[in-house]
Amino acid sequence: MQTQPKLKISNLHKSFSNGRSTIKVLDDINIEVGDNEFVSLVGASGCGKSTLLSIIAGLQDFEEGEVLVDGASITGPGRDRGVVFQTYTLLPWLTALQNVEFALRETGHDPKEITDVARRHLDLVKLSRFANSFPSQLSGGMKQRVAIARALSYRPKILLMDEPFGALDALTRGQMQELLMQIWQEHRLTVIFVTHDVEEAVYLSDRVFVMGLNPGRIKECIAVPFARPRQTGIQHDRGVLELQARVLKSIREETSRAEFE
Ligand SMILES: Nc1ncnc2c1ncn2[C@@H]1O[C@H](COP(=O)(O)OP(=O)(O)O)[C@@H](O)[C@H]1O
Ligand SMILES: [Mg+2]
Repeated sequence: MQTQPKLKISNLHKSFSNGRSTIKVLDDINIEVGDNEFVSLVGASGCGKSTLLSIIAGLQDFEEGEVLVDGASITGPGRDRGVVFQTYTLLPWLTALQNVEFALRETGHDPKEITDVARRHLDLVKLSRFANSFPSQLSGGMKQRVAIARALSYRPKILLMDEPFGALDALTRGQMQELLMQIWQEHRLTVIFVTHDVEEAVYLSDRVFVMGLNPGRIKECIAVPFARPRQTGIQHDRGVLELQARVLKSIREETSRAEFE
């Protein structure tokens, strides 16, 4: 990478202890992600994907290593990083619009602009008509669209997503993938996307990081060379299927190795 990476993680180590024993969860993670790059993290359940993502978000600390955004060490959560989790994290007593406004207020946005900016971002995720609906009145996909609008509203440079479409039905998931690709392309975002769905990882990403298990580490980085914009349906092209198989094999090697240890 010639220019400075948007995100650089060096020699990152993370353990959890439960009083008596300490378990190493992340072992010497080294990753660089470029500006406007879309990367996925895949790997067996428990390999540390969510832990790594929440460290990047600044929501968890770590013992050793460095996490740099634009060359500067992170010190906690920040407006330069937006986060979307799998489960719906909207405040149930606020409308869709108010949920986005709330986040803008929290991040210190100019109060005069808050409603305008919130409306624009609901528009971006095609939810203007539901601005005054409460989360309980929205479908799963709509709730995730509000969560995306909220995460993008304060204009982060990096969008961190932890299995954001994992709880959605296949049709809605496909629509959300299209929407995300569109937003990513138009807004020059850097996306770190955690998924256990290999098809989704290959379809969306420039590169897929396969994580190893026990301890969690980066096992392999697989480049996805298919041209953009990627049409719906390419998931079934031969070259794409072959790459999916390669990613899947890499994940499986790791789970069977861990089982026999
Ligand atoms: N707060 C915590 N305390 C102790 N162990 C944890 C904690 N969070 C995660 N772990 C452990 O760390 C490992 C990685 O978890 P996680 O990052 O959630 O994996 P993934 O998202 O890849 O499924 C698992 O073994 C999990 O049990
Ligand atoms: Mg997880």
